[in-house]
Amino acid sequence: GSVVLACSGSLDTSCILLWLKEQGYDIIAYLVNISQKEDFEEFGAKKVFIEDVSREFVEEFIWLAIQSSSLYEDRYLLGTSLARPCITCKQMEITQWKGGKYVSHSTTGKGNNQVRFELICYFAAPWRMPEFYKRVKGYNNLMEYAKQHGIPISVTPQSPWSMDENLMHISYQAGIPENPKNQGPPGLYTKTQDPAKAPNTPDILEIEFKKGVPVKVSNVKDGTTHQTSLELFMYLNEVTGKQGVGHIDIVENCFIEMKSRGIHQAPAGTILYHAHLDTKAFTMDWEVRKIKQGLGLKFAELVYTGFWHSPECEFVRHCITQSQEQVEGKVQVSVLEVQVYILGQESPLSLYNEEPVVMNVQCDYEPVDATGLKEYHHLQSKVTAR
Ligand code: ARG
Repeated sequence: GSVVLACSGSLDTSCILLWLKEQGYDIIAYLVNISQKEDFEEFGAKKVFIEDVSREFVEEFIWLAIQSSSLYEDRYLLGTSLARPCITCKQMEITQWKGGKYVSHSTTGKGNNQVRFELICYFAAPWRMPEFYKRVKGYNNLMEYAKQHGIPISVTPQSPWSMDENLMHISYQAGIPENPKNQGPPGLYTKTQDPAKAPNTPDILEIEFKKGVPVKVSNVKDGTTHQTSLELFMYLNEVTGKQGVGHIDIVENCFIEMKSRGIHQAPAGTILYHAHLDTKAFTMDWEVRKIKQGLGLKFAELVYTGFWHSPECEFVRHCITQSQEQVEGKVQVSVLEVQVYILGQESPLSLYNEEPVVMNVQCDYEPVDATGLKEYHHLQSKVTAR
């Protein structure tokens, strides 16, 4: 049978692709372009389907996140979490279209993304299959395995951290950031400028909302205007990012009962979050706002834990959209270094446990251990579907 593999252009993907071939499957490689900076050419597969879904990602996912005013654990704008249901939907479409029999992803057996994929359908997850990870022998040997099998490895050595990028954010985890005491190294300021290097003159922007969604962005100083979703979002990423806004450094609670340190940069998301708050305060009914605030919390939790496609999330999304009917207006925003940045932390009472999180080490947590969790949650979906 053929396997539709969701590809990210990473070394993991190339190795999994090869390994699946070794197991006798035909591979249909599928790469979703959501405006990550990826070298779409250099990649081990002969034929890759690439689809640009940036506009859908903004309109169907990011806008709802802005309308919900929700932050996971008070800080995180959910950049990675929002992208997963978007990618998976597209992957299902191509699987049907190409008559694929199986779907696979290449995310690690230790993170949240496996859950986000696998609550949507039954995926093959090689990083959790002992046949794969015992063969490749963990992340340390990935390079070795690739070399042995003639997989092209880019000349530049891999960054000492794991990265995930899309239109909404860039996220860094593992490697250097894994120890919460370490400051994020300078090379890590990419979507937002290092605040130390940000200009000290503000940009003044006017953002116009209709039904809680930005419909126009103007730069008051130079008169630049953007009126379509994708263009205005990209413009906000650029202007806000340049000012060093939208950088967060957090230790978050993952679905797999671990704490994880992540550095995430979401410039456009951050300015829209604030501008939307103001328009909302200005226009929304007090009681509606209070109820909606609770729904925002629920929304963040559902999106973070991979339940975008669930009856409860559909209900919450419906209510959030409904609450935005009156959210309309223009906000002028000054964009200048406005945030407090955490550089690193330590605590004698920390509940952070580095050992099971570290990608390189197989400790008493085996990747295969995460399999049962999804089975448990599938049960409810199956009953609903029936
Ligand atoms: N912890 C974040 C989440 O689960 C980001 C995960 C991806 N980041 C990465 N650097 N691989 O949504």
